[in-house]
Amino acid sequence: MPDIVNTEQAQAWNGPEGVHWARNQDRWNAVNEGFNEPLLDAAAITGSHRVLDIGCGSGQITRLAALRAPRGRALGLDLSGPMLAEARARAEREGIANVSFTQGDAQAHPLEAGAFDAAISRYGVMFFADPVAAFANVGQALRPGGRLAFVCPADAALNDWVAAVASLRDFLPVGDFGRPGLPGMFSLAVPDRIREVLTAAGFTGVTVEQAQAYGTWGHGAEDAAEFLLGTGPGRYLMEQADATARARAHRTLTDRLRDHEAADGTVRLRSTTWLVTADRPAG
Ligand SMILES: C[S@@+](CC[C@H](N)C(=O)[O-])C[C@H]1O[C@@H](n2cnc3c(N)ncnc32)[C@H](O)[C@@H]1O
Repeated sequence: MPDIVNTEQAQAWNGPEGVHWARNQDRWNAVNEGFNEPLLDAAAITGSHRVLDIGCGSGQITRLAALRAPRGRALGLDLSGPMLAEARARAEREGIANVSFTQGDAQAHPLEAGAFDAAISRYGVMFFADPVAAFANVGQALRPGGRLAFVCPADAALNDWVAAVASLRDFLPVGDFGRPGLPGMFSLAVPDRIREVLTAAGFTGVTVEQAQAYGTWGHGAEDAAEFLLGTGPGRYLMEQADATARARAHRTLTDRLRDHEAADGTVRLRSTTWLVTADRPAG
């Protein structure tokens, strides 16, 4: 792949992590889809808009953006070959013609200047080694006055799944997992950091609002625990434990998730995000 600067991320998302997300795309969408409408509304996508989806993964939000802009188009940009293959297949199956997908690193990919009216992301903007460079690259691809809107995880303590993983610290080396500001998933968990990065990248009018949604993680606590321990963070922690500790972690997590089982057996966990908007200056 040309123009890749986030090489470790590219390896992860083209390796087990990307394969897990691609294979479990329906499940991930059930986890995260509560943010779709708030995000698309915040981006104010309509009729003929040209939309860029950053870190689009398997492209649910890219396809929804394309449907909101029937005379426009949506482009999904992502590092992950397996997830993009899934995105293309789904767009074709759903007969959405005004959507396309490109493999590349948002921090370095040559995006045409001023080519988009809006840039969006659902959880795809936290992994940049140089976030200012990445958001500046996205910003120059917006037309003057164009809008950026994204959701990223807020405080770990406000995300039930993180609290559930953190509760396994007697068995797994949980360490700093979920600490706001560390590289990775929680790198933009502090609003002042978001404002600092976006301002340095040339955006104005930055707004950061908290948004919460409940997602479905599985059917029955056993299933949800299996899924959660199979995600990147779960796998990483389990790989470092011995068989006894792994079994205990599994049991403890399953017991904890029982508290979140609804009457129909679905396990619903609260996620909390920052819903962020910012504008490329008009003049
Ligand atoms: C947590 S997943 C979210 C995927 C998708 N937006 C969704 O909501 O299902 C993060 C995505 O960001 C992508 N990503 C991470 N760093 C990236 C980068 N530098 N450039 C482009 N995509 C990136 C990953 O490949 C992955 O698909």
